[in-house]
Amino acid sequence: MIHKFLFLFAFFLLSTSQAQDFCVADLKSAQTPSGYPCKSPKTLTVDDFVFSNLRAGNTSANPFKISLTPAFVDEFPAVNGLRLSAARLDMDVGGVVPMHSHSNTNELLIVLSGHITAGFISSDNTVFVTTLSKGKVMVFPQGLLHFQINAGGGKASAFLSFNSENPGAQILDLALFSNNLDSSFVGKTTLLDIAQIKKLKRIFGGRG
Ligand SMILES: *[C@@H]1O[C@H](CO)[C@@H](O)[C@H](O)[C@H]1NC(C)=O
Repeated sequence: MIHKFLFLFAFFLLSTSQAQDFCVADLKSAQTPSGYPCKSPKTLTVDDFVFSNLRAGNTSANPFKISLTPAFVDEFPAVNGLRLSAARLDMDVGGVVPMHSHSNTNELLIVLSGHITAGFISSDNTVFVTTLSKGKVMVFPQGLLHFQINAGGGKASAFLSFNSENPGAQILDLALFSNNLDSSFVGKTTLLDIAQIKKLKRIFGGRG
């Protein structure tokens, strides 16, 4: 009886020591489809689980007058394997997050300051759009085209949360106008004027 108990106890210790509570990314190794390999738990401190740089970025460095400061796995290795991450969005006056979609994550936006007109378009092309003020939270379901526009007379900012540690984005303008897809194909597939396509290709660095 006592032997049986000791055996179960030893088995319990063995199995809990094998359980994996977390897998903080070892960014020196290559990323795989299932994430990064783990850093050795013995080397970790609480600081590995804290991200301290969710600050406003430079909104003057792009034509959309916005900045996105990510706390994705490459910046915040603790989210490796946890299927969540965060970011901070800052929008200058006139700032816009262009129409885009995330194939691998939902998005949640929490307005910190200012007013943001935000919307998404469902796959049957219904539009869901509203203007959000400080403290409002909106969800953008995975895969759907969505956008945000600074709707106020001052700057606006928001926190974003994703249920992926590595959110990907496809930006509509860049897909159409920043690569070498022949302008005639862009014109045929969108019915846009070639002159307008060439103008947008100049803005977004496209060729062809
Ligand atoms: C912000 O970006 C602009 C344009 O690239 C640059 O001229 C400016 O120096 C940057 N500001 C800061 C604080 O880095």
